[in-house]
Formats: sequence, structure tokens, C-alpha cells
Amino acid sequence: MPVDSPILEARGISKSFGGLQALRDVSFSVCKGRVHAIIGPNGAGKSTLISIVSGFLKPDKGQIYLRDDCIDRISAQGRVKKGLVRTFQDVRGFSRLSVFENILLGSHVHGPRGLSDFVVRSGSIRRFRNSQRDMVFSILDSVGLADDGEVALSVLPFGKQRLVGLARAMASRPEVILLDEPGAGLSKEEMDVMVKAIRVLVEQGVSLLLVEHHMSMIEQLSDEVTVLDFGQVICHGRWNEIRTDVRVREAYLGGALTSHARS
Ligand SMILES: Nc1ncnc2c1ncn2[C@@H]1O[C@H](COP(=O)(O)OP(=O)(O)OP(=O)(O)O)[C@@H](O)[C@H]1O
Ligand SMILES: [Mg+2]
Repeated sequence: MPVDSPILEARGISKSFGGLQALRDVSFSVCKGRVHAIIGPNGAGKSTLISIVSGFLKPDKGQIYLRDDCIDRISAQGRVKKGLVRTFQDVRGFSRLSVFENILLGSHVHGPRGLSDFVVRSGSIRRFRNSQRDMVFSILDSVGLADDGEVALSVLPFGKQRLVGLARAMASRPEVILLDEPGAGLSKEEMDVMVKAIRVLVEQGVSLLLVEHHMSMIEQLSDEVTVLDFGQVICHGRWNEIRTDVRVREAYLGGALTSHARS
């Protein structure tokens, strides 16, 4: 597939919650191996869009295409099997399981049985676990968690817990990752580590939809940017083009976009 062909496409997505129109006719595409950022003020509809693309929510209208196949009828787990995985805006995971086990859970769609078996640790799961060991350690290494595999998730500092979320998504062997605010709550130093980890993914050829409030991350990572406001696309282009766009400035309370726009 040529680099510029879309691997993921959303066409005319609309979604209402009761009387609130969270998304209205939103379309975008992510090209293979590229980072497409979605920005917009709080409540603009970014997480709703990620939930719809990943299959956690059904749209009222519109279609999602992965590699030219319409995936509207495929469940969230089915989409992960097809190579489309999301991360969450908040830290999620199993606090008492080790970092290794949390990341291993990301690969369970390719394993022998369901999620609960991971906790029971049946024989087949033990064999699967052993077969995935090298893969998990290589992911740990690539996100800078090589020394933390045996530690319980809850013991890790917040920034590292966020990296585990990214690592868990990587363990499903995705082609496309939808990242919902990977920089939320991170210190400057932690954010630098996150940017590095995301760059590793891009170098591996993974395509990314990146929702983020920290404009420094958008500047460093994005190839193109779509701006949402009140559920509608108001602007699309490269970061250098959209950062000065008057519609975008107005959406962000009329102020200039800074590296720490509203969070
Ligand atoms: N499950 C839901 N039920 C009702 N309203 C919802 C639901 N999920 C989201 N909304 C509303 O839809 C709108 C868009 O929310 P969404 O979480 O997608 O915004 P966002 O752009 O991700 O915001 P933020 O930057 O704060 O994370 C908001 O007004 C929100 O309150
Ligand atoms: Mg959100």
C-alpha cells in the first residue's frame, strides 16, 4: 500500500446524546504510517469520535473504513483483531497485576481464550504467556520500561502507568492506534518520554490518530491536524497552517494556541 493511501477513514460521522449533538458530519482519514492529530476545546467531541472509530460507541450516521473495508458491523474486540486499537484518556489497567501481565493482556485477542483465563492462568494461557514473552519484553524496552516488567502496575509513577497503556495497545500488534490524550497529566519530562515512545511506533510503521491538548506534542508528532469545535470539523491542515487560522484561535477562546492549550 503506498504511504499516502488512507488506512483508516471516517465518513460523515454524527452522534447525539439525547438533545446534545456531540458530532456532526465528521470525516477524516489517516494515511499509512502517518500521525493525524485531532484537536479541539474540551467537549468538542474528540473522545466520542475515538469511541466510535474503535467500536465502543455506535454512530447515528456515517461509516468507518479500515483498509477500504467498512467495519461498522464489527465489534470493538473484532476491530482490535483487525489491527485497530485505542488507548484511553484516563489510566486503565489491572493495578495488582504486574506491568508484564498488563501488557500481555493487550495480546489476548490473539490468544487461546478470553480475558478471565489470564487471571486463572490455565495451562494453555501459561503456554501462550511464554510464547509472548519476547514480544512483551521488546515492547517494554521500546517504551523505556525494560526494568519495570515485574513491578505491580499500581506501584509505578503516573507517567509510567500511561506508558503501560500505550504498551498494552502495542501488544495487540496494531496497524492503527487511536491515542486519547497520551500526554494528559504528564510532567514535561514524562511527556518527552511519551513523545519518544510514540516516535518508535511511527518508525515501526504504525499509523496514529492522536487526540491531544498539549500543542507541543501536536507540533512534534503530527503530519496533519483536524480541528473539532462543538462536534464539527472547523479546519484541517498541517500544524503550521492551522495554528494561525482565525477559526482555530476563536475556538480556543480567541487566544493564541500555546503549548499548553486548555487541558
Ligand atoms: N456518554 C455520554 N452521554 C452524554 N453525553 C456525553 C457522553 N459522552 C460525551 N458526552 C458529551 O458529548 C460532548 C463531547 O464529549 P467528548 O468527551 O467527546 O469531548 P472531548 O472533546 O473528548 O473533551 P475533552 O477534551 O474534555 O476530553 C460533551 O458535551 C460531553 O459532555
Ligand atoms: Mg476527551
